[in-house]
Amino acid sequence: MEILKQRILEEGVVHTHDVLKLDAILNHQVDPQLIMEMGKQFARLFREQNVTKVLTIESSGISVAFATALELGVPMVFARRKKTLTTDAETFCERVPSFTKGIVTDIMVSKKYLTANDRVLLIDDIIANGDAARGIIRIIEQAGAHLVGMGVVVEKTFQAGARTIREQGIRVESLAKIAALQNGSIIFE
Ligand code: G4P
Ligand code: NA
Ligand code: NA
Repeated sequence: MEILKQRILEEGVVHTHDVLKLDAILNHQVDPQLIMEMGKQFARLFREQNVTKVLTIESSGISVAFATALELGVPMVFARRKKTLTTDAETFCERVPSFTKGIVTDIMVSKKYLTANDRVLLIDDIIANGDAARGIIRIIEQAGAHLVGMGVVVEKTFQAGARTIREQGIRVESLAKIAALQNGSIIFE
């Protein structure tokens, strides 16, 4: 997505050699018009897959997942984060480490909103090591739902997340691929 790459160059801040801050468009402030364009693009890419539900993880995936779900005309569900795992028969739960926060959290989805009849499109904002993504994929497996693929706004190709998910046979589509963050500059693939 050219417009996205342009905005990343204009407003992205290289925080460290492996973290790109996108607070101006995605992770703090949100640009609704740009987010709607992302939703349209993911909807175009997965339109033929008969998606019944768009799934993401709170918080930063929500805006893009919402835009995608609106375009596809299906509900959006976001996995909630919990500080501690409470054994709840009514929810699917998985424990995941967080790359940026350096902590472990539990993510959960109610059994009411994810079932074996669902064809799920997974959406996320930035993929790094893919721990969060693999956690939510395990929840989809627990539910017996069908994962049609994953849409990611920014894929950092120098980290293994998206690659390992593709190696599981899952289709991953990224709107921007970043090959490196070098000396304060952003290198697209
Ligand atoms: P993931 O690749 O599956 O997302 O899992 P990983 O454990 O690698 O990343 C965990 C969190 O770190 C995610 O946010 C992810 O979006 C964020 N993250 C990874 N790399 C970057 C980066 O370069 N820049 C920014 N801004 N974020 C990054 P999260 O914990 O789900 O938090 P939230 O933003 O959704 O609240
Ligand atoms: Na994030
Ligand atoms: Na995220």
